[in-house]
Amino acid sequence: MSGSIAAYKAAFFVRLLRKEGAELQVVMTPSAAQFVSPLTFSVLSQRKALVEYVSEDGAGWNNHVALGLWAELMIVAPASAHTISGMATGRADNLLLATYLSARCPVMIAPAMDLDMYRHDATQSNLRVLRERGHLLLDAEYGELASGLIGEGRLAEPEKMLEAVLSYFNPEKPLRGKKVIVTAGPTIEAIDPVRYISNFSSGKMGFELARALKEKGAEVVLIKGPTALEAPPGLDRVIEVGSALEMFGAAKEVFSDADIFIAAAAVADFRPEKVEKKKIKKDGSKAVIELEENPDIIASLAKEKRENQWLAGFALESHDAVENAKEKIRKKGLDFIILNSLEDEGAGFQGDSNKITIIDKENNLTKFELKPKREVAADIVQYLIKYIHA
Ligand code: C5P
Repeated sequence: MSGSIAAYKAAFFVRLLRKEGAELQVVMTPSAAQFVSPLTFSVLSQRKALVEYVSEDGAGWNNHVALGLWAELMIVAPASAHTISGMATGRADNLLLATYLSARCPVMIAPAMDLDMYRHDATQSNLRVLRERGHLLLDAEYGELASGLIGEGRLAEPEKMLEAVLSYFNPEKPLRGKKVIVTAGPTIEAIDPVRYISNFSSGKMGFELARALKEKGAEVVLIKGPTALEAPPGLDRVIEVGSALEMFGAAKEVFSDADIFIAAAAVADFRPEKVEKKKIKKDGSKAVIELEENPDIIASLAKEKRENQWLAGFALESHDAVENAKEKIRKKGLDFIILNSLEDEGAGFQGDSNKITIIDKENNLTKFELKPKREVAADIVQYLIKYIHA
């Protein structure tokens, strides 16, 4: 850590890394130690945070060579303009910079400074040097800075830095640390104690999605309506629901700390206004069931969406598919929609294959071939990963 007010954020980062089981050695520049206490980092990292070359009692020294060889990854966060320049030019006038020069492991750099310092040609050319040296740069973010100015220069959020570390160690699991909710299957809407209204959804597309998300490392919560098919094994949580209102209740309960919500369920649009307590008897006359509309689950959740939460829905359209799907993105407040057009042969509700087009909220269209639902799910997840990292 080098000297920046953002050093306090590094405390959260250290906690997150510890939670993942990382072994940490915190090295601070003397200037960082003026912003935050080394004691805080010693306690959080469970190892004495080091600042000086010479140990406090004057009897030993902090061996930067050993430190540099010990680490599997060096992360400089926050990286001040001064430290960045020291790294770029190979200065070694403090323990952090000497450790950097001794380190054989990959290096990640998360700059943090005021906006003018960040965009200064000197800083930018130093960053270019470090990038060309093969280091991974976690770009500073836009926002309010400690100076009161607004612009680029904020240290990347601890969660984002953690994500970068995790995907560095585990590139095949790009969704690690992401919590995803998937709704799947139909809902059933009771008419009386023995009858209900429902639809032909098999739940297959949603189940394949849940499986594909899990494979990419996501924490997956599946909310499923009643289906003949079993949910895939190994998910983090499966919530079984019956009606649309139950599905809505379950979704609301888990939405706030989710990163991604994918609505693959075929939610019944209507439910009987009155559920008869007793089985309705036939008496030779016409029976009328008054229906009322169910809440739109994904549209309601979209209204509560916070920054860095993504919502995707499905659309099954019989005509003017693209236009209708675009309208649905807008009306429901989605990031993107996966369109199955009934105009396409093989795209459907119950079958094993599907032909989709993904449309994002900027109206970009991505078309896919007719494929088995398992491969369609992999395409959707790949699209999602690209989308959230864009
Ligand atoms: O409006 P329509 O039913 O065509 O929208 C389909 C999309 O909206 C699907 O993603 C579906 O899961 C979601 N939906 C919902 N709640 C409803 C109806 C649909 O979340 N009541």
